[in-house]
Amino acid sequence: MGVQYYISCLKKKESIFYENPAFKNQENFLKKLNITKQDIINANLRLDRFRPYLKKRFQDTKDGLIESQIKEVPGFKTELEDRYGIEIKGRVFVKMDNTLPIAGSIKARGGIYEVLKLAETILIEQGYLSYQDDYSKLLHKKCKDILSKYTVVVGSTGNLGLSVGIMSAALGFNAEVHMSCDAKEWKKELLKKWGAKVIEHPGDYSYAVKMGRKRCEGDRFAHFVDDENSLDLFLGYATSALRLKEQLAKVDVYPSTNNPICVYLPCGVGGAPGGISFGMAHVFGTAARCYTAEPVGAPCVIGALITGKDDFNIKELGIELNTEADGLAVPGPSKLAIPIIKNIIAGGFTLFDEEMLWSVRSLYLKENIKIEPSAGAGVKGVYFVEKYVGKCDHLIWLTGGMLIPDNEFQRMLSIN
Ligand SMILES: Cc1ncc(COP(=O)(O)O)c(C=O)c1O
Repeated sequence: MGVQYYISCLKKKESIFYENPAFKNQENFLKKLNITKQDIINANLRLDRFRPYLKKRFQDTKDGLIESQIKEVPGFKTELEDRYGIEIKGRVFVKMDNTLPIAGSIKARGGIYEVLKLAETILIEQGYLSYQDDYSKLLHKKCKDILSKYTVVVGSTGNLGLSVGIMSAALGFNAEVHMSCDAKEWKKELLKKWGAKVIEHPGDYSYAVKMGRKRCEGDRFAHFVDDENSLDLFLGYATSALRLKEQLAKVDVYPSTNNPICVYLPCGVGGAPGGISFGMAHVFGTAARCYTAEPVGAPCVIGALITGKDDFNIKELGIELNTEADGLAVPGPSKLAIPIIKNIIAGGFTLFDEEMLWSVRSLYLKENIKIEPSAGAGVKGVYFVEKYVGKCDHLIWLTGGMLIPDNEFQRMLSIN
């Protein structure tokens, strides 16, 4: 089926599955790219240096590691079979970034990494820190005094704001979070509790990012965490793939091209799924097939994949941004991630809000797993891949939810 067919489906807000023809050239593409596996390893070494600090500052990190478990979900697999009327031959796992320490979402991987790197750079420049030090010294008042001269700014639909805001405030930076109109009230309140300044904008995600970027222009004491362009965010996300091989081996999953692991990644601007796919491509090659998952009301990354336009915007489809999945409510993709994603990803799909809300309920009732609607976007990948691709095991990346207040969670459970 051609580009026009897929675009007309996106315009009609239909749920589609798209296989990326460039996926088979992944290996050649990676060889030519100037970002390498070594960059991911270096990012991981940086996170390791911070572990003594993180362990003391955030008890939920257990040994200072920002990582989540994978879990097989047989009860939910049966639910998926019933809902979509299929027999699922592969095993079904979830990656539990909904419980990721500190900020409870996939965005913590990138956001926290970028803030830590900034702190390290400043403290080394000022002669207060060296790579050989025990980084627990970042708990000292002197360190906080140095960092308090700087402001970390970010534009966000919510979860990147939480990650950057919490980590910045903990280190002693001033934190300023520009939020889009889609951002949930509880996320704003949580940030304020951490001492971050929350600036609310009437516009969408792109507008909030633009305002944050503008705020930093000409201010040498301000650092903008740029969700649409940041390589540091991208590498922070990518580090997750380094540990996945071992995690999968523990549950007897050894991906191969004959029996790949298919990974479903909820996608907003494309940074987090892009970084993770990039890491997976380096670790597993085409034995890992990563798919982007987006609401029919915010299909910007799949639109860029299908049309080949890096600056695709859903306005071109004549549709309004509209989804209950606040983390995915994005009209245009990341300029850094798209040129990479479109050469390494196996494909993408869109789904209805109702399907995400069903997965919130179903994962809670069958597996006692708490997620937010954005985090449920990956579930439909199991159906599409079983139907159109073939033999594999499935990994649904659950991207957020741990911090949702109970009353908000009950509200979500009650939406039909
Ligand atoms: C819960 C959740 N899942 C997935 C994403 C998608 O990440 P990205 O915007 O980098 O594609 C977000 C983004 O904020 C999110 O909050």
